[in-house]
Amino acid sequence: MHFPNGLLFDADYQKELKAKFCHADADPIYGDRLFFENSGGSLRLEACVNAKAELECFPDCPERIHARSRYLKNIVDTGTKEILEIIFGAKSGALITELTASQTMFHMVGLIMENIPGKNAVVSSIEHPSAFDAVEFYCKKTGKELRVVPANPQTGRIDADEVIKYVDGDTCLLSIMSASNISGTIMDMEDIVKKARAIKPDLYIVSDAVQHAPHHAMDVESLGIDGMNFAPYKFFGIRGCGFAYVSDRVAALPHHKLIAKDQSVFELGTSAPGNFAACMEIMNYVVNIGEHFGCAGSKRERFLEGMRRIHLQERALLHRMLEGTKEVPGLRHIEGVTVFMDTADLTIRDLICAIKIENMDYTACTAEYQRRGVTVYERVVSSIYSKRILEALGLAGAIRVSPLHCHGTDDIDAFLKITAQMAKKAQK
Ligand SMILES: Cc1ncc(COP(=O)(O)O)c(C=O)c1O
Repeated sequence: MHFPNGLLFDADYQKELKAKFCHADADPIYGDRLFFENSGGSLRLEACVNAKAELECFPDCPERIHARSRYLKNIVDTGTKEILEIIFGAKSGALITELTASQTMFHMVGLIMENIPGKNAVVSSIEHPSAFDAVEFYCKKTGKELRVVPANPQTGRIDADEVIKYVDGDTCLLSIMSASNISGTIMDMEDIVKKARAIKPDLYIVSDAVQHAPHHAMDVESLGIDGMNFAPYKFFGIRGCGFAYVSDRVAALPHHKLIAKDQSVFELGTSAPGNFAACMEIMNYVVNIGEHFGCAGSKRERFLEGMRRIHLQERALLHRMLEGTKEVPGLRHIEGVTVFMDTADLTIRDLICAIKIENMDYTACTAEYQRRGVTVYERVVSSIYSKRILEALGLAGAIRVSPLHCHGTDDIDAFLKITAQMAKKAQK
């Protein structure tokens, strides 16, 4: 079924899920707050934090042959396999592991740009700097032309028909993010890949899924993409690692590795089993949601159902945030509030809203939200992370509001009431 306005979890189940996250409703020192800054780093599952901490207690090297060592090695091996198969939906390819998602993006972009012939590379104007700068850096290094696809100013989307104006037979790489980290707009990657490959059938394509992965399942296999990455700390997990899938043909390119290791192995040095164990807890959490809703298929199928339910819950929360109720008006109906890149169709949006309160400076607005117990973030042109993207969207700034699926309608209503009070005060 389609559910254009989403489908809420039962309230008890939503509370049960929220209880699995650390500090979901309050900071232990600074007090109660609605954490609506999940795009900057999501709420963490207690199970992920514990799994990481538990494994860090063991001094054993995963490369030895005693029992604890083999146990740790098994976690790395199973984790690698399952991150590829369950989280990315890959049937082949290899895993790049780094300290951050940004590093994985530079890694795969560099591999492609330095080894694949071509005269230009295409990237969108609204990419996170890790994706945009990686392409620009390697264009300079390899003497290729940098081509930048503009965003649709109404929807904030990168349209496939626009992308193909920039791709030609000499394009080495196309890099388009799966969803915007400012507006939450989801790109139609299927259409983009199909139309771009109609121009150049063997085109290398990568996609930054750091912002999209916590809201919707990735499926590298059906997209037929060459690279995709995510960051566990934005996906209910932990800091200190970034993961990327690369296709077999990218893994076959000459890359840093120990000579004796298989070509598909990207890991250099002793890996951290705790990072893989934490990722498996992310999977378990999502798989359990799939099971809760009656899915009894393969682990990937249960994961897909879990992510589908998360996505529907988030769409319902987005609808509530935009439309509100008779008692509590939504963002679209509060005088003095503007929702940027708002679209009637919520099926092309993740649970992220870019807004503005009339007569309020963005930084002061964020501080005022915090004072009233809501953590959000301002994207302003003075930030190196936001400048190019905001300008590409024709914005001077935006307050980014990003709740998570574990929030309830009561949380959204509390946020709306605070927003209405702030907007009213600012109009006086
Ligand atoms: C869309 C997007 N891509 C990439 C990144 C970079 O992630 P990391 O800080 O783990 O390198 C971010 C972080 O905000 C992001 O929002």
